[in-house]
Amino acid sequence: MQDVFIKDIDKYIDKQVRLKGWVRNIRHSGKLLFIILRDGTGELQTVAFQPDLGDEKFELAKRLTLESSVIICGIPKPHPKKENVYELAVSDVMPIQIADEYPISKKEHGPDFLLSNRHLWIRSQKQWAALRIRHSVYYGICNYLNEQNFIRFDSPILTPNACEGTTTLFELEYFDEGKAYLSQSGQLYLETGIMSLGRVYDFGPVFRAERSKTRKHLTEFWMMDAEAAYVEHEENMQIQEELIRYVIRYVLSNCKLELEILERNVEALKAADAPFKRITHYEAVEFLRQKGSDITHNKDLGAQDEVLLTEDSTVPVFVERWPQEIKAFYMKRDPENPNLVLGDDLIAPEGFGELIGGSQREDDYDLLYSRMVAEKMPIEDYQWYLDLRKYGSVPHSGFGIGLERLVAWISGVPHIRETIPFPRMIYRIYP
Ligand code: 4AD
Ligand code: MG
Repeated sequence: MQDVFIKDIDKYIDKQVRLKGWVRNIRHSGKLLFIILRDGTGELQTVAFQPDLGDEKFELAKRLTLESSVIICGIPKPHPKKENVYELAVSDVMPIQIADEYPISKKEHGPDFLLSNRHLWIRSQKQWAALRIRHSVYYGICNYLNEQNFIRFDSPILTPNACEGTTTLFELEYFDEGKAYLSQSGQLYLETGIMSLGRVYDFGPVFRAERSKTRKHLTEFWMMDAEAAYVEHEENMQIQEELIRYVIRYVLSNCKLELEILERNVEALKAADAPFKRITHYEAVEFLRQKGSDITHNKDLGAQDEVLLTEDSTVPVFVERWPQEIKAFYMKRDPENPNLVLGDDLIAPEGFGELIGGSQREDDYDLLYSRMVAEKMPIEDYQWYLDLRKYGSVPHSGFGIGLERLVAWISGVPHIRETIPFPRMIYRIYP
């Protein structure tokens, strides 16, 4: 007897197989028992016929409940009417555990109930699909970077200093060393890595003690930071664009079923695999004010601005060359206008907001130092970072992708909380 996964079932037509999984659904009618089995790789309709199974086994099988664990043996057959659909003609059923009455049913549950039952909710079909798309987005990103000679360089989570300003730091006591912080982004460490390895990336959890209660914010999320030596602003955006387009194609070819389950408009996704738009922050503000926004030239885009900016666009939009006063200390000054920095934000279409934050980095010691002093940063904590500008400084750039934001857009899941196994938000830490 061959143990197989449901995703491979078409390779075993008319052969005896054994499947191990859980009951997604069960119903019986007369001498027939229909169990929809799921095994993590997919779902399959199984059909047991009382005379084939024997009365005793048939009665035992009828006692299976939703989400009971079970091993089912049988012979895969093509569905009589539907193409590329298969059924299992059951020869044996072995219950492993009869599940208690399952709390999640077909009826509508509120988000709070579902989040409190996240440990069970992840079994639902849509959650299964979203988590599988997350997996593919993750591998798409890694594959692209690997092909482009980026070396994985893991940055620490416990850090002595801030990367993205001090207002969103999670703080903790670190033995006798004083305060430590949970990393907001590995970027500063990646900048050290390029001086050894040329092109590097990290991928891991980062933390923001952000009081934002929106569908786009988590307090713990996964970030991929990439950094490359001798890459300047233009090329930095090119890499970001190629990467996102690669991931779109990767998910479209690997997650057809998942996108269908989530009712994602795949035409919109295909349309996004085309040259991205570029607009300066200045032009964006002018455009938004015409559309009725009250944004000004020294302001970041609000959520509504991001929607207005992209509502007529089928592709993501780069907003570049930002006022330095509203961007992080490490961004390089625009040689054409010292009030601006060579930063870019990539805004998703369809209202999914900012996917990427990136920039060319300030590589001049004196300019960086004076900016840090102006921002009253504790220079002694960042001496290692300043050192990079003393020992073989090079023009360099990088960017960070919020994995959950990208998964939300690609899968069309409107709330970021469904794109990570256990979302952490200001009002939720259980389970
Ligand atoms: O724009 P951010 O803050 O950029 C950085 O942290 C840079 N140091 C990255 C780099 O250059 N290596 O964050 C990058 C991305 C955002 O564009 C967004 O997609 C995501 O991280 N992000 C969040 N995702 C979920 N919840 C939050 N609270 C997020 N804050 C940022
Ligand atoms: Mg940002």
